[in-house]
Amino acid sequence: MENQTPKPKSNNHHLVLFPVPLQGHINPMLQLANILHSKGFSITIIHTHFNSPTKSNHPHFTFLPISDGFSKTKTSTEDAISHITLLNTNCVAPFRDCLARLLADGPIACLITDAILHFSQLVADGFGLPRIVLSTCSISSFLVFAALPVIQEKYLPKQDSQLESPVPEVLPLQVKDLPSMTTNDSEDFYKFLTNMVTQTKASSGLIWNTFSELEESALSQSRDLFPIPNFSIGPFHKSFPASSSTLLIQDRSSISWLDTQKLKSVLYVSFGSIAEMDRKEFNEMAWGLANSMQPFLWVVRPGFIRGSKWLEALPSGYAEKIGDRGCIVKWAPQQEVLAHFAVGGFWTHDGWNSTLESICEGVPMICSPCFGDQLVNAKYVSDVWGIGLRFEKGVERGEIERGIRRVMVEREGEEMRERILCLKEKVDVCLEDGGSSHQHLEELISYILSF
Ligand code: UDX
Repeated sequence: MENQTPKPKSNNHHLVLFPVPLQGHINPMLQLANILHSKGFSITIIHTHFNSPTKSNHPHFTFLPISDGFSKTKTSTEDAISHITLLNTNCVAPFRDCLARLLADGPIACLITDAILHFSQLVADGFGLPRIVLSTCSISSFLVFAALPVIQEKYLPKQDSQLESPVPEVLPLQVKDLPSMTTNDSEDFYKFLTNMVTQTKASSGLIWNTFSELEESALSQSRDLFPIPNFSIGPFHKSFPASSSTLLIQDRSSISWLDTQKLKSVLYVSFGSIAEMDRKEFNEMAWGLANSMQPFLWVVRPGFIRGSKWLEALPSGYAEKIGDRGCIVKWAPQQEVLAHFAVGGFWTHDGWNSTLESICEGVPMICSPCFGDQLVNAKYVSDVWGIGLRFEKGVERGEIERGIRRVMVEREGEEMRERILCLKEKVDVCLEDGGSSHQHLEELISYILSF
């Protein structure tokens, strides 16, 4: 373990946070840290060397790196479960040592760690420290993850003939919506989920990056399944943007390009920080976008196309064909993009952060969920909230071209926009004084101070 950063203030309002080292998890954890810091807590972030956050963007926090044993590991959809399993094994001793040193310096009010880091519950218990869990996915997705180890035998692996069948245990999901992960050993996945649920039940509380009005019934189910205090205090990024915790450089030329486009004319396309595609799918995506004749801003992250460094897989003559109608970047300031007047739709993989960010800007979605909770989010976006449509055929240029037009220019898209704008208004209210998230945050603060 390394420990060169300044020691935190010794007081009983000291919180220690530990994020999962992936962009979609670092963003909400650091946003939460900023929210709690603004309420007077002093903050220490324990983090792995792998994907370590940019400390200089958060001079008000103390950062303590711990060894993770896989600094050079690449994280992709192919190895996510083994990566998570390794994290839960490799970090036990370094995390315990780090906490012991911190405790020698002064009291810690509580630990806040990602639900995925289930090992941290036993470490917290060993020190008699309360642990509060942060779930970075939606409540609905977490409930499905909790049910999966029990129901998987009935429905998984998915059979083509059953894809449309409802799953009564987790309605309104159909078999096609159940979270899947590519892993060499699916037993590892279910074992991990069981541990995550058991250790969440054993924790002192559960923080959700969502708002009650969006997931009212899921929140009440969660209170039954996890009979510990549940606090839905999101969306976090409305208080502190994700740009300060970005691991890649955000290309600001995307904003100057958007400035030249017409009101709500541009489709923003991004599949988050982990999802990957093969060359054939990428080719279909490229032609679907080109044939739609809509302007588009496309984030193609290096590593997004399997076997390609960046854009080598684009069809020849593609750049000439799209001309100024398309802008392709490696990484964008996503929240700013979604808030831009020129953006009228978001083709997304439905990571929970992206979904929330789109809701907060009132931008209707086209869903291409790739794995895990994204399938559940896509179900809610398309069939429950009615704020987007989901591609059913995977990635096929005809469906893409048609879907883009449905959302960007047809009445159907207008109706989705009206519904998502209603949700956007609810977000604004829930964060105001007396709003649901504001109230839950006050309750969370009193709860932590009572430890
Ligand atoms: C992962 C999982 O895939 C997701 O399903 C889970 O809910 C959280 O962890 P990721 O795939 O990266 O996250 O997606 P998402 O949750 O949407 O998070 C991506 C974050 O990166 C967002 O905060 C988004 O604003 C940011 N981003 C994305 C950028 O800043 N720039 C970009 O170009 C793209």
